[in-house]
Amino acid sequence: MIKPHGAEALNPLLVTNSIEHKHLLTEAEDLPSLLLTSSAAANAVMLGGGYFTPLPGYMNIADALSVAQKMHTVDGLFWPVPILNLTDDTSSIAGVDRIALRDPNVEGEPVIAIMDIESIEELSVEQKNIITEHIYGTLDKSHPGVTVFQAQGNHCVSGPIKVLNLSYFASEFANTFQTAVEIREDISARGWKKVVAFQTRNPMHLAHEELCRMAMERLNADGIAIHMLLGKLKSDDIPASIRDACIRKMVDVYFPENNVLISGYGFDMLYAGPREAILHAIFRQNMGASHLIVGRDHAGIGNYYGPFDAQAIFKKIPDGALEIEIFNADHTAWSKKLNKVVMMREAPDHEPSDYVFLSGTKVREMLSNGIAPPPEFSRPEVAKILMDHYQLTN
Ligand code: ADX
Repeated sequence: MIKPHGAEALNPLLVTNSIEHKHLLTEAEDLPSLLLTSSAAANAVMLGGGYFTPLPGYMNIADALSVAQKMHTVDGLFWPVPILNLTDDTSSIAGVDRIALRDPNVEGEPVIAIMDIESIEELSVEQKNIITEHIYGTLDKSHPGVTVFQAQGNHCVSGPIKVLNLSYFASEFANTFQTAVEIREDISARGWKKVVAFQTRNPMHLAHEELCRMAMERLNADGIAIHMLLGKLKSDDIPASIRDACIRKMVDVYFPENNVLISGYGFDMLYAGPREAILHAIFRQNMGASHLIVGRDHAGIGNYYGPFDAQAIFKKIPDGALEIEIFNADHTAWSKKLNKVVMMREAPDHEPSDYVFLSGTKVREMLSNGIAPPPEFSRPEVAKILMDHYQLTN
């Protein structure tokens, strides 16, 4: 199977030994504690599950700047997005070197990890802006990822962590949330060698479904791993439980049995386009996928990135930086001429009017008004789940 990123073996930071776990939980009760931001808690979940192998914990400012500006840590590890623990208040942890980290996303703010503090540094406004511009490509406060990042505090608490639980994901998405360790085991048990990963934050529409099918067929893959984001999204995105139901229904009805693995990961969406695409590739390599589909405006939002910037960035990274390969997909849509979903570069005789185009915003608007998306856009079974959801919430 493909090797993890920058390591011979996965490095999940979740403590699974029950004696050590109990011991650390008891210890945590007496430690000074820090309430994490949702982003830092999501980082802990990703580190816990092995997705962020080989990182040992949260980065310091030197690594964060190096990653932002040069896409590698000070030690030379290829990495696209700083993995940070930022806070605005360090009064509870001043002068101590071992602390408990508390989870803001679970009632009662239980301890999610224990951290050995290596440094607490002040991130200047200028440094924060450098990171923001490199990662998100903009400082525009209407970019949802920029807003979240800029709203975090300016104290950077770095150091290795031991993760004690995987937040709300394991209980709330018991059938779908999986760690990179579990997915590797699953892939190995299925005997798959060539595995295509599909990133998504959407209920899967026809174009998504066809992208998976095309990648599978063209790569002659053993299986496809549909890997959905289960963490926080901007407020008008569709909730994870609904997306999960849509995806499961679609796979049930339209894919052959046994060549699809459905799972999800606990991370908040960054909307960082190209940089996030590289992060996506790293953690798909860590979970054992040999390929990742990158299509139009991957991990993008609005017009902040060019439609294929997230493909172009992979051509600029150093040779050998990643082992996972990218399946570049062109804009894909329903052709009225051919009565099927096509990649546009493969239909050179088509005019824009030959396609059925619907933006996410348009679809949400239709659903809010009780109108089902057409069969050229969504499978009827998926449309029904979405309609039911919108009826309930409106
Ligand atoms: S994303 O933020 O997770 O990238 P989404 O779930 O919509 O959003 O997309 C999942 C993957 O499908 C991404 O690789 C994206 O580029 C690709 N994709 C989505 N819609 C299309 C489309 N119509 N044509 C080509 N690629 C697409």
